[in-house]
Amino acid sequence: MSHKVLTGQRALVTGANSGIGKGVAIALGKAGAKVVVNYISSEERANNVVETIKSNGSDALAIRADVSKEDQVEAMFKQMIDAWGSIDILVANAGVQRDADFTEMTLDQWQFVIDINLTGQFLCCREAAREFIRRGIDPELSCSAGKIICMSSVHEVIPWAGHVNYATSKGGVNMMMQSIAQELAVKKIRVNSISPGAIATPINTNAWNTPEAEAELLKLIPYQRIGKPEDIARAAVWLASDDSDYITGTSLFVDGGMTLYPGFREGG
Ligand code: NAI
Ligand code: BGC
Repeated sequence: MSHKVLTGQRALVTGANSGIGKGVAIALGKAGAKVVVNYISSEERANNVVETIKSNGSDALAIRADVSKEDQVEAMFKQMIDAWGSIDILVANAGVQRDADFTEMTLDQWQFVIDINLTGQFLCCREAAREFIRRGIDPELSCSAGKIICMSSVHEVIPWAGHVNYATSKGGVNMMMQSIAQELAVKKIRVNSISPGAIATPINTNAWNTPEAEAELLKLIPYQRIGKPEDIARAAVWLASDDSDYITGTSLFVDGGMTLYPGFREGG
């Protein structure tokens, strides 16, 4: 990227040592931001992302924290602010699946997914918003006081049998994002979601790693290709930059048309 739209800004990406978060962290770095690479397991993979960002010319820092734990989230933000002075961009990306038929789903499976996918985003959004409000606008960096990007999913609108915990968490992310956006717009803080379709990452390997699975998945994607983390990363850079100023409270679907009800192309 030749035009570094995020020069000097400080970003935190949760779950940034794998899949979409890794792609987003590297792209934010290429766009000129310093990036905190949050992780919960595999410090080595987090350090590799840090090294990639540094080799592209930006600063980066790996911080371990479980996003579902209030004390760990608070400590992570404190460590970042102590190191770099503040935060300008949060990408609340960390997420998990624990799939089960509804009648077989345990309370642990339900709670685990809600705690990370929804409560984890709440905790990170709240810490970021507190700091954005404390600091206010720095016109040298951005015309807004801060940007939050929640990683949602097409399943914030597409019901998903066998994944009730997950779809519910993403439906919750959508209403949380819009409510925060409504509350914080007056403070010049922008809050949006990205809602990816099927992106090839470790979370959904079984959905694309055999020719049969890939063929089934492509039936759900009018654009006829499975997404890549870079597809999401480009959208994240844009939503984090002043190029998208005036956009708040929106969920941007990056899904190759998965939400277009492809089954109706010939039916109905
Ligand atoms: P992934 O499994 O590669 O990445 C998930 C990341 O979250 C990992 O780095 C993991 O260690 C981290 N994580 C899990 N629990 C954590 C915790 N308690 N604290 C901190 N980090 C934690 O999967 P992927 O696909 O990159 O997922 C990223 C986000 O994108 C998730 O929110 C997921 O729901 C969402 N998404 C993914 C889609 C896909 O097709 N891959 C489609 C739509 C949404
Ligand atoms: C899920 C993936 C799935 C995709 C499309 C995502 O939210 O995490 O497992 O492939 O939605 O259904």
